[in-house]
Amino acid sequence: MGLKQIDHGSPEYIKMVDLRNQILRKPLGLTFTNEELENEKNEILIAAFEEDEILGCCVLCPIENERFRLRQMAVKDDVQGKGIGASIMSFAETIAKDKGYKYMLMHARDSAIGFYEKFGYKVIGTPFVEVNLPHHIMEKELI
Ligand SMILES: CC(C)(COP(=O)(O)OP(=O)(O)OC[C@H]1O[C@@H](n2cnc3c(N)ncnc32)[C@H](O)[C@@H]1OP(=O)(O)O)[C@@H](O)C(=O)NCCC(=O)NCCS
Repeated sequence: MGLKQIDHGSPEYIKMVDLRNQILRKPLGLTFTNEELENEKNEILIAAFEEDEILGCCVLCPIENERFRLRQMAVKDDVQGKGIGASIMSFAETIAKDKGYKYMLMHARDSAIGFYEKFGYKVIGTPFVEVNLPHHIMEKELI
């Protein structure tokens, strides 16, 4: 498996959006709007591939000078639990640190809080609802 940054609009990006739809949106009866995808042009798009097959992904969105928000973390359902999510987290944090960012945060689905806790993220603030699911903000300092 290899991890890489991919280009918006590329064939890899189309596979990424399809994976995100399968894992993050379709189960909730939702999809992406063109506007949402258009807004990703200036974001960092990360994907894990085994040859031509996409296994997982995430998106890094700069929200201010020192902070990146990690979004759209998804691993293909038949390969979850094999360390791919952990590899994506580590790759994403390395990119954020290389770019000089000091903090990473995410809007964590409550069902994924335990996953992010493995990498040292802590819940901050109060619960909220996004895509009809309970979420918490989680954050950590990148050292
Ligand atoms: C959450 C997700 C990205 C994790 O990726 P993964 O490849 O399955 O995770 P890994 O195999 O790398 O797991 C790393 C560690 O986190 C743990 N873990 C994984 N998912 C977890 C979860 N939902 N809750 C608690 N712990 C979890 C694993 O047991 C493993 O622990 P270990 O190091 O002690 O063995 C993936 O399961 C997924 O895509 N889920 C559905 C979409 C989703 O919820 N995305 C997050 C939205 S905020």
